Amino acid sequence: MKSAVYPSLEGKRVVITGGGSGIGAGLVEAFVRQGAEVHFLDVLEAESQALAAQFAEASAAPVFHRCDLTDTAAIAACFEAIGPVQVLVNNAGNDDRHTLDEVTPAYFDNRIAVNLRHMLFCAQAVVPAMKAAGGGAIINFGSISWRLGLPDLVLYETAKAGIEGMTKALARDLGAHGIRVTCVTPGNVRTPRQLKWYTPEGEAEIVAQQCLKGRIEPADVAALVLFLASDDARFCTGHEYWIDAGWA
Ligand SMILES: NC(=O)c1ccc[n+]([C@@H]2O[C@H](COP(=O)([O-])OP(=O)(O)OC[C@H]3O[C@@H](n4cnc5c(N)ncnc54)[C@H](O)[C@@H]3O)[C@@H](O)[C@H]2O)c1
Repeated sequence: MKSAVYPSLEGKRVVITGGGSGIGAGLVEAFVRQGAEVHFLDVLEAESQALAAQFAEASAAPVFHRCDLTDTAAIAACFEAIGPVQVLVNNAGNDDRHTLDEVTPAYFDNRIAVNLRHMLFCAQAVVPAMKAAGGGAIINFGSISWRLGLPDLVLYETAKAGIEGMTKALARDLGAHGIRVTCVTPGNVRTPRQLKWYTPEGEAEIVAQQCLKGRIEPADVAALVLFLASDDARFCTGHEYWIDAGWA
């Protein structure tokens, strides 16, 4: 397949949270191939080092920063070290299953911290330089899960619904500065972690419910994110963009 190249992404400084594995690793690869200066934040040391090493020969090699995104002071320090950013992809999340009776106040706070809170504080860290530059792009990862009402994910789905509200609010507040804020809503994407939840029969059930009969790969999601990050999407803001093969 021949894929698009966006000249406007070349040389841009891009930060990807949760870039060490899954969709995030696909995003790192996709932005490196566009000639962007990629920085990715993760807690997975070995996977992230291996990913960075894979592209060590690229014109701009991606840089891994170990950062626990539940620690807001660590987020601030990390962005301070990176410097002005033109594109922020708020991708990190965690879809551990849980039932209502298992939820404690501490677990509630932890799930919101892992799935929602860091997106706002990463945005807060990049916005001053984006304002000074007269623009930028922030792309938040939502999920189809709460639209479908999938079971045993109440806190994850609460966070993912909140991300859509946050996207709308920030797009309004930041639009006057030329900063675009969008949300990507993936269906089921074939990552190593998803294969933990779904058996081959489970995967086949998802495909049966999709309009398009194939498995979505991280590169397919990255293709949408590249467009939203590029200047070609200059009037896209404040909305969700779905990539679910027509599942919902
Ligand atoms: N894969 C899917 O089918 C799917 C579907 C809908 C939405 N999404 C969303 O897409 C995004 C990426 O999902 P994925 O499937 O690649 O997930 P994943 O679990 O494979 O990868 C998430 C990455 O985030 C990192 N991360 C998690 N907590 C962190 C923390 N506290 N600090 C730093 N890094 C942390 C993980 O180490 C991991 O590398 C998530 O926001 C997820 O909710 C995924």
